[in-house]
Amino acid sequence: MMEKFMAWIDARFPATQMWEEHLSKYYAPKNFNFFYFFGSLALLVLVNQILTGVWLTMSFEPSAERAFASVEYIMRDVEYGYIIRYLHSTGASAFFLVVYLHMFRGLMYGSYRQPRELVWIFGMLIYLALMAEAFMGYLLPWGQMSYWGAQVIISLFGAIPYIGDGLTEWIRGDYLISGITLNRFFALHVIALPIVILGLVVMHIIALHEVGSNNPDGVEIKKHKDENGIPLDGIAFHPYYTVKDIVGVVVFLFVFCTIVFFFPEMGGYFLEKPNFEAANPFKTPEHIAPVWYFTPYYAILRAVPDKLLGVIAMGAAIAILFVLPWLDRSPVKSMRYKGWMSKIWLAVFVVSFVILGVLGVLSPTPERTLLSQVCTFLYFAFFILMPFYTRMEKTKPVPERVTG
Ligand code: HEM
Repeated sequence: MMEKFMAWIDARFPATQMWEEHLSKYYAPKNFNFFYFFGSLALLVLVNQILTGVWLTMSFEPSAERAFASVEYIMRDVEYGYIIRYLHSTGASAFFLVVYLHMFRGLMYGSYRQPRELVWIFGMLIYLALMAEAFMGYLLPWGQMSYWGAQVIISLFGAIPYIGDGLTEWIRGDYLISGITLNRFFALHVIALPIVILGLVVMHIIALHEVGSNNPDGVEIKKHKDENGIPLDGIAFHPYYTVKDIVGVVVFLFVFCTIVFFFPEMGGYFLEKPNFEAANPFKTPEHIAPVWYFTPYYAILRAVPDKLLGVIAMGAAIAILFVLPWLDRSPVKSMRYKGWMSKIWLAVFVVSFVILGVLGVLSPTPERTLLSQVCTFLYFAFFILMPFYTRMEKTKPVPERVTG
């Protein structure tokens, strides 16, 4: 019965072919480690955001008069509304945490290198879309930080010469942030950007499956195949990695649910305290800071004394990641076989990024500004000097086949 049914489907839609190409006959390197969990976890969080988002939309009202109250209504009166909202708000932070670890894996093992440049570029486009998605989502509850955070970020566009003022007005759809802004951010947050993100994720995975996955050794498993054309160091994604990924999912859900149930605000880092107060255009909060996942870039912005140059530095900090595949000139991919300079620079980069993240939450003092300037310098130096140190350093010999 089942075979007949599948034959009927396959004659009309390539279901079996797709299943084989992307799962049961997709051969992934056998040495995936901890860092390879985060791609499938990002998919899981994406699904969580879409599902909880759909349910939130059922009770949320996107108007300046009703938005804040409708969120309170979801929290207090809608059945399980508080869980749905916390799954969504904690999910946003989880998304960035997972994606940052996913990107770090790429940096560590040279996953952005030829032939995976497009996998990386699609990833970067996802990252950009995700930042826009999170930024617009944060305006929706119409709390004090929603309002004033958006005010700070949108006004940055005003620093652009000639078109700045017109541009900020165009983004807001009004002379100040208003219900009109809220309405369009809602449309973009629930419809436009999710479609873009989903489309990009599909392209990301198609591009990856076209060239095959990298691995912690950074060696191409397609170089050594058996008589049937199957990579000797590859194992079928399904069932081997599907089962392995379930372990990652269970561990992740334990941690995630603990946060959702017991620390959903995470001390003001996931949901900021001023956001429990309705937006008030006449009262600026004492201290405005974005949510933690944006703070490294916010610190870079503030590190530069000139507003326009600060905006440019912030944009460049993200843009430079796009060209990473062409900055790394090392003969080897993985950090395992790179020299000491690459290792030290990667460590310097990560530490600078984290310090910038911490500084972005705090209010500025002269000492903190100086530190953020040093870290901004190191952040850029990691990329700009990469073509030099990756070529100068002595690398270790790379094995022909994957190890372990
Ligand atoms: C919604 C966000 C994302 C999803 C759902 C996603 C999904 C995935 C999945 C399922 C894989 C294969 C499994 C794995 O290698 O972990 C993968 C691989 C990869 N992703 Fe992503 N990704 C996302 C964002 C990003 C971002 C922001 C970047 C970098 C800018 C990125 C870069 C890569 C690279 C380079 C690989 C290949 C890794 C390798 O073969 O070693 N991804 N992604």
